[in-house]
Amino acid sequence: MRHLLTGFEFDRDEYQQILERASDMKREPAKYAAALKGRSGAIMFEKPSLRTRTTFELAFYRLGGHGVYLDLQNGELGKRESIGDYARNLCRWVDSLVGRVYAQSTLEELATYGSVPVINALSDLYHPAQVMADYLTVREHLGKIEGVTLAYLGDGNNVTNSLLVAGAILGVNVRCICPQGSGPDVQIFNKAREVAGRSGCTLEVTSEVGRAQGCEVLYTDTWVSMGDNTPLESVKKKFLPYQLNAALVRDSGAQLVLHCLPAHRGYEITDEVMDGPLSAVFDEAENRLHIHMALLDLLINGR
Ligand code: CP
Ligand code: NVA
Repeated sequence: MRHLLTGFEFDRDEYQQILERASDMKREPAKYAAALKGRSGAIMFEKPSLRTRTTFELAFYRLGGHGVYLDLQNGELGKRESIGDYARNLCRWVDSLVGRVYAQSTLEELATYGSVPVINALSDLYHPAQVMADYLTVREHLGKIEGVTLAYLGDGNNVTNSLLVAGAILGVNVRCICPQGSGPDVQIFNKAREVAGRSGCTLEVTSEVGRAQGCEVLYTDTWVSMGDNTPLESVKKKFLPYQLNAALVRDSGAQLVLHCLPAHRGYEITDEVMDGPLSAVFDEAENRLHIHMALLDLLINGR
């Protein structure tokens, strides 16, 4: 049995297989209409979601299966009964657990006590299914992934960590351009860098905005992630130099702009860039559906 908890679980061939399968599902969805017939999943969210919830529910539906949404926004997992007991119950009924949680440890616990695949739909540390959709979008627009250079600008967060992990496995050069003290998780970065060494790509963390120059892809995300109550306005001064605006994008020479969304227009990205010719943010959002279909098929059916 396999899980998707961090993104480190799969090798390059497996990532490519997921991306291939997602592309095929996008081209010919009817071929897969019964792939999860009679199979199901619990979709558990401790935090809000538009894209991830919608696309996981639809992924089950499109594959002939069923996703049961469990709203945990009014009470974290482990409050009403232990996480272990929660998992033991659910695994008597469903074939997978999809979880958006505050703490990565919650997902690890579900995997420990459960008996079905667990899929990380965002935690404090990772957003692994998101970045699979992101790299699929890169491939669709640039025709390749390996050897591409992607710059992430802004707050080093769960999405940044996952871009590093999947990028290292897929052979992407990832530059994290973040203010001092706001970089990605150091342990995850170091582990990803070992993987990158074997893949022949480079990972970098810097606060120099000029390092965006020469990158084919520019990526940003919110300056304040879910679960952090810091007012966005209060960090604006610190992060504004890292904003994806027309001047920065032009000077970088980039070919593609990505954002996992939701966007805070006028903060990490301007309207001009988000609605401009290089932006593929809604392709990225669409690709969440195709990636989730491929992931559920792989993890539940074991293929
Ligand atoms: N990108 C993303 O995960 O969006 P949601 O928070 O709306 O699911
Ligand atoms: N870093 C953001 C991603 C949202 C999809 C957050 O965790 O809120």
